[in-house]
Amino acid sequence: MECLEIKPSKNLKGIIEISGAKNSALPNIAATILTDQPVILNNIPDLLDVRYMISLLKSIGSNIEKINENSWAFSLKEPITLEANYEIVEKMRASILVLGSMLSRFGEAKVALPGGCPIGLRPIDLHLKALEKMGVKITKEHGFIVARGKPKGAHIIFDKITVTGTENIMMAAVLAKGETVIENAALEPEVVDLAILLQKMGADISWDWRNKSRTIRIRGVKKLKGTVHNIIPDRIEAGTFVVLSALTNANVILKNYPYELLTYVHYVLKNIGINVVQIDKNSVIVKRRNELKPAYIETKEYPYFPTDLQAQFMTLLSVVDGLSIVKENIFENRFLHVPELNRLGAKIEVSNNKVAVIDGVKKLTGAEVKATDLRASAAMVIAGLIAEGKTIIHDIYHLDRGYENIDTKLKMVGAEIERKRITQPKVKTN
Ligand code: EPZ
Repeated sequence: MECLEIKPSKNLKGIIEISGAKNSALPNIAATILTDQPVILNNIPDLLDVRYMISLLKSIGSNIEKINENSWAFSLKEPITLEANYEIVEKMRASILVLGSMLSRFGEAKVALPGGCPIGLRPIDLHLKALEKMGVKITKEHGFIVARGKPKGAHIIFDKITVTGTENIMMAAVLAKGETVIENAALEPEVVDLAILLQKMGADISWDWRNKSRTIRIRGVKKLKGTVHNIIPDRIEAGTFVVLSALTNANVILKNYPYELLTYVHYVLKNIGINVVQIDKNSVIVKRRNELKPAYIETKEYPYFPTDLQAQFMTLLSVVDGLSIVKENIFENRFLHVPELNRLGAKIEVSNNKVAVIDGVKKLTGAEVKATDLRASAAMVIAGLIAEGKTIIHDIYHLDRGYENIDTKLKMVGAEIERKRITQPKVKTN
């Protein structure tokens, strides 16, 4: 077991490189199943979730070669199995992304039903309903989704906007007979990045994402070919470091910063009193007013405020004088970080797990806390860097799932942050 020990760290200075987007790498790796040609993916972040996805592809029979720290070559000539086993799926629910690509290429797939996760039930009913609309036979057997039949072109209208649902159906459609129209599609940059990869592999996809169209038209082709593709930078990691820089008065340059993917977040930050200033095409620094203003934030689908930045902004608002409100519209249980922040002296109240009211305090004080879900863990790191005294964060495997070497990146710019191994606490039985 590991924990992070963090002390207040002011005046951070230097350069932080934003890594490739986790939520782009995962679908892009799944898409390599769609061809027997080699696909090279660059700017892949070195994260636990990526390692899980790579081991899943290996277990299916993909030949995988590590070119360097962040570049991998994938080629799946012949599968050895079409089953995504439980122990990987239960660790990473994004494994469900191999469903669409396996069905597309091989006409069958067996994927363990992903469990829930701390932030919500995370159903996949919309994925399955859409695949059935495409003529796929789906049964649930002993905790597995058993899917049979090559998908056929169909008109899919998603009742709710779903990121991985859109990605799964895009991958199911690219080799399907006929045309597939997807309506109410997700517009997240990571979904667009997958569409660009598929187009480079020879898929026939027309989608006016620049004008925020939620309709994707896909004409099935016979085969897809190999290609080389660079994963987009991680806008959530980028937003996390903006909040961290503002709160610690850092003089840090954020490199590979995806400025155009955070337009709405910049608008919210500006109203609070924080400016993200471009110093060249790919780099920014963060400037802030002394007095920051409270905010009203609602999480929504892209291009509005991302749910994956909600916890980090809660840390920011917890030390901004005045009353702020955060409304979580995407997930039913995404306030698990609130009791942890309150242990650090924040004053946050939650009503019906949907709305948090934050009464800003002058300062946070260090304590032992735990990371509760992937993005919330970053919110605790930020809190630890500004809290008076020492903060210890437990359960940091959540952090390693979504942030590439965050403690190393922060230490490089002067943060007082140490990763420590802890032996199992001796449980006193009296
Ligand atoms: C993706 O999850 C991301 N994960 C999440 O990031 C992100 O928080 C989420 O999109 C929202 O932006 C990956 O891309 C791997 P959804 P996803 O399907 O696709 C409901 C992180 O920290 N829904 O867009 O699972 C669902 O319960 C993770 O990196 C159904 O009801 O999210 C949720 O309330 C956390 N039925 C809403 O839709 C379905 O079949 C949006 O979920 C599918 C989803």
